[in-house]
Amino acid sequence: MRLNIVCIPGDGIGPEIVSEAKKVLNKIAEKYGHEMVFTDILMGGASIDVHGIPLTDEAIATAKAADAVLMGSIGGDTNTSPWYQLPPEKRPEAGLLKIRKALNLFANLRPAVLYEELAAACPLKEEISAAGFDILIMRELTGGLYFGERKTVEENGVRKAIDTLTYDENEIRRIAIKGFDIARKRKKKLTSVDKANVLDSSRLWRAVVNEVAKEYPDVKVEHMLVDNCAMQLVKDPAQFDVVLTENMFGDILSDEASMVTGSIGMLASASLNDTKFGLYEPSHGSAPDIAGKDLANPIATILSASMMLRYSFDLDQEADAIDAAVKKVLQDGYRTGDIMSEGCKKVGCKEMGSLITERI
Ligand code: IPM
Ligand code: MG
Repeated sequence: MRLNIVCIPGDGIGPEIVSEAKKVLNKIAEKYGHEMVFTDILMGGASIDVHGIPLTDEAIATAKAADAVLMGSIGGDTNTSPWYQLPPEKRPEAGLLKIRKALNLFANLRPAVLYEELAAACPLKEEISAAGFDILIMRELTGGLYFGERKTVEENGVRKAIDTLTYDENEIRRIAIKGFDIARKRKKKLTSVDKANVLDSSRLWRAVVNEVAKEYPDVKVEHMLVDNCAMQLVKDPAQFDVVLTENMFGDILSDEASMVTGSIGMLASASLNDTKFGLYEPSHGSAPDIAGKDLANPIATILSASMMLRYSFDLDQEADAIDAAVKKVLQDGYRTGDIMSEGCKKVGCKEMGSLITERI
């Protein structure tokens, strides 16, 4: 199979971790007889430095023409980087929002899994973590507060900022359908998270989720308020399977869920539209403090590449091979600094990539 993949190395540790994912993908290509064609585009600070804006129309067109996009990370230190002196629409993050919208990537899948081998890094008490957990946060990614009208005005000498939270029923229905489809392939439980005790958008969200639920009688659905969900994630994470929620709540809850795994350096993510196309990226950020030092953990990016093979190309066997190689490396005791524990062998980003590649 010919896989036409656009890569966005991006900023900070992005280029290092994407190179390791390419190494792994090239090994997959060799072993399973595929042809991988990689085309790099600039996004975020890397694009600002060259073009003055975080994402050009040409870069979007290149991404659109590909079968899938593999991204590292974008952005820099918000206190010191000159990128953050620019107006908001020219900063690195604006590139990310623009590509999500341009490619209609409305469904963001963020798995939060407790790896047995890394259980010691989980910050929860052992009686809570012992049950293990495997949560999939499904975040709506192209609507809500992120894309509603916003402005800052001055009224009678008083500055006032307005952000608008809007959802129409079609936006809710399409992510709900994706959520139920995925729940059906997992433990068949879907928790829809909203703030229906206060927000109209949440009341519509709940109503539409209930309508869609009728088509999935085999999936158990429950509704949970977002503040309660934030609490339940640390109290009893094992109760969750698929967590379906709107853009802003998903942004916050997915960080919380990844933190309770204790290994954000391990967590992949996928942003999908209604075709097989997707953008795959680690759940962590660009870690500018360790950039270029061969210290980053490439595993989340490598697992994102595995998600890409599974969701965009239906190459389950190849994706399984990557997941198994990652597991094997951990079992063999290799760790990058972020997941290091006593008695393990500490390795850098490149070596971690090579160790995983060797095990495929
Ligand atoms: C994320 C990030 C982005 C978001 C930022 C960088 C705009 O936090 O992907 O979760 O808020 O969506
Ligand atoms: Mg976030």
